[in-house]
Amino acid sequence: MNWSQEFECGLERFDTSNQCLIFVLRQVLAPGGECRGHPACGQQASDCTKTRALQTFASRKFAFEERVMRGAEFPGLPEHAEDHRQFLSRIEMKGPPQTCLAGLSEIERIADLWLPLHVDEFDRSFGRWTSALP
Ligand SMILES: [Fe+2]
Repeated sequence: MNWSQEFECGLERFDTSNQCLIFVLRQVLAPGGECRGHPACGQQASDCTKTRALQTFASRKFAFEERVMRGAEFPGLPEHAEDHRQFLSRIEMKGPPQTCLAGLSEIERIADLWLPLHVDEFDRSFGRWTSALP
């Protein structure tokens, strides 16, 4: 996935945050990125260091966004935060019989589907709400 203007939501801080997520996804999912031996590292998929790196970054990114929305008293925060939670749980690798390679391509597929929908439904909603404030 590459950043493009179609991901803009009307809030520079969120656009930057989403750009960073795409960058981190590409770096971590690249061969060798954040991995201790991929593809035949012998680790349980549930211990995959790539997955842990993505979860750590995404958790911090979401916490930042939720702090901004909470500070603005955005009424759509609960639904927005729930969509963040669902993304984190969907990229959790479940271990055997999940293999590292299959799991990582599934994470890539989940992220490719999730981010455009999340921006469209949730980030833009917050962007519209803030731009309507007096
Ligand atoms: Fe979000």
